[in-house]
Amino acid sequence: MTEAARFRAVGKRFGAVQALRGLDLGIAAGETLALLGRNGAGKSTTIALLLGLDRPDDGEVELFGGVPEAAVRAGRVGAMLQEGQPVPRATVKELVSFVASTYPRPLPWREALELAGIGELAERRADRLSGGQAQRLRFALAVAGGPELLVLDEPTAALDVEARRAFWRSMRAYAGRGNTVLFSTHYLEEADGNADRIVVLDQGRTVADGTGEAIKRAVGATLVAFDLAGGSTRGLRGLPGVLALEVRGDRAVLRSSDSDATVLALAAAGLVRGLSVTPASLEDAFLTLTAHDSAGADARTDASAGAGTGAGTGTGATPDPAQSYEEAAR
Ligand SMILES: Nc1ncnc2c1ncn2[C@@H]1O[C@H](COP(=O)(O)OP(=O)(O)O)[C@@H](O)[C@H]1O
Ligand SMILES: [Mg+2]
Repeated sequence: MTEAARFRAVGKRFGAVQALRGLDLGIAAGETLALLGRNGAGKSTTIALLLGLDRPDDGEVELFGGVPEAAVRAGRVGAMLQEGQPVPRATVKELVSFVASTYPRPLPWREALELAGIGELAERRADRLSGGQAQRLRFALAVAGGPELLVLDEPTAALDVEARRAFWRSMRAYAGRGNTVLFSTHYLEEADGNADRIVVLDQGRTVADGTGEAIKRAVGATLVAFDLAGGSTRGLRGLPGVLALEVRGDRAVLRSSDSDATVLALAAAGLVRGLSVTPASLEDAFLTLTAHDSAGADARTDASAGAGTGAGTGTGATPDPAQSYEEAAR
């Protein structure tokens, strides 16, 4: 399999902050890879190094078999970074055709606009767009050069649900042409729904690497729930396979590594009332993988570079994983 990019034991420090610690990561050509992690996990740093915007302190970063700068200069990479640049007073069409003209093998400007879903905005002034439209213009600019690799750093952070859906449709259409896409997100659903493969970053290292399914399997969790019907939760934590107990209203929810054994034990105890057995969501998997305690350490996958230390960083405005984790552990 051809590789688009490769990180080898990459370390990056900012003063006292170790942003990346021995990051090993390959991106296959044609793959759509999600870099999933909380704020401060090292996603933007990874992307900056990949684009040659910054250099690693340790290890090396290769892009299309050479140094990143060479691939970027050759027009093989398009990017949408977290900070939006101010847009000039040009029209959408002028802006996209200008950017396209700086690349050796650009897309026709109309095709870039169609891909971004803003075909009807060609004559609009770029500084008069709504937030969602401006984000789609940035996408059109990122694909205007016809890049083989498209890099998107939290591309939907400022978008509403509808704009988000439309954005991912555009991204998948571009990936569907055989291009490679790397995007970062802290939305688990986005990673699960739009990537072939998910790499979970935590404190500058990889804590999981695989499909959404594989990550859930690696964590091995299934949720077994039943009606307590006023009964006690005593002894439930000690049942076979049970990793954690949570009480939601009058239902007990057991996170289990062996749902068959857990269900059999519940049946033997006469507790099978309104029983449901469901796979844990990717969010459950993510919480387990990035939990900085002994429970999380056991669940790390083979791709793990070792146990994390220290407290987690902030989580931003998204559904707060730390909070759900506390609920799950209660
Ligand atoms: N230019 C910088 N100067 C100082 N610290 C930085 C700089 N860039 C990133 N960091 C720190 O490095 C860590 C990783 O940051 P970043 O890669 O932006 O994470 P993410 O994109 O996953 O939120 C954070 O602790 C962040 O504060
Ligand atoms: Mg970032």
